[in-house]
Amino acid sequence: MTGPVLDVHGVSVQLAGRPVLSRVDLQVGQGEFVALLGANGSGKSTLVRAVVGLVPVCAGRVQVFGTPLGSFRDWRRLGYVPQRLTATSGVPATVTEVVAEGRLSRSAPFRRTTRTDREAVRAALEAVGMADRARDSLGRLSGGQQQRVLIARALAGRPEVLILDEPTAGVDVPSQQAFADALETLAGHGTTVLLVAHELGPLRPLVQRAVVLRHGQVVHDGPPPAPVADAHHVHAHGPSDDGEGLLS
Ligand SMILES: Nc1ncnc2c1ncn2[C@@H]1O[C@H](COP(=O)(O)OP(=O)(O)O)[C@@H](O)[C@H]1O
Ligand SMILES: [Mg+2]
Repeated sequence: MTGPVLDVHGVSVQLAGRPVLSRVDLQVGQGEFVALLGANGSGKSTLVRAVVGLVPVCAGRVQVFGTPLGSFRDWRRLGYVPQRLTATSGVPATVTEVVAEGRLSRSAPFRRTTRTDREAVRAALEAVGMADRARDSLGRLSGGQQQRVLIARALAGRPEVLILDEPTAGVDVPSQQAFADALETLAGHGTTVLLVAHELGPLRPLVQRAVVLRHGQVVHDGPPPAPVADAHHVHAHGPSDDGEGLLS
């Protein structure tokens, strides 16, 4: 039997002297598709950053693939796409080059690119609707398009666990649907997904379980909140009308 792939137990995080997460528990089992939901500022990004070791925890513990984070080394097994593109390197890179990095990290440095690599890169770019920009340099893309390239890089690496922080924020609906289809295929192949989102949109049918944060604490862990009939009218309803009230 195998334990959870991601195991956050009693984790507290302070940033700039302020508590941001308080005694958070989050388990994600192999092959699960879990959404991490909550209002802006509730601590979603901080939690996934703690899971991948980018912020220190002041209490509790994090294990990935059954290994305490401090001793975990096999980062290829885990794909992480941050919410925003951190400063890009000064080296001009094309979209294809950036996505190919996701393949090269899989094995020895300096190995030759194979046809399988090129196909994985192309499939990943199609999945995020960026295949027609493959030859463009990253610097010529909008922030949202750069984000999609980062998602493609993570997809191309075919990790066992994919952690995505608001991947569809600012992405148009057709691209969101293409991305949802790609994630469905990955999930069908057994990829474990932890998806941070503010609104699920076309990704909703994929979500098996939702964990909702509020003010740095888990306030819900169970079935995803019910869909909103018309997202444009969400603010016209009281917070108890539907599950989305959990997010406010
Ligand atoms: N580097 C930081 N230093 C200080 N405070 C931070 C930092 N990053 C995030 N915070 C604060 O932590 C809280 C949670 O932020 P975040 O995890 O980004 O929330 P979410 O992703 O749910 O919007 C917010 O109040 C935010 O201002
Ligand atoms: Mg965030």
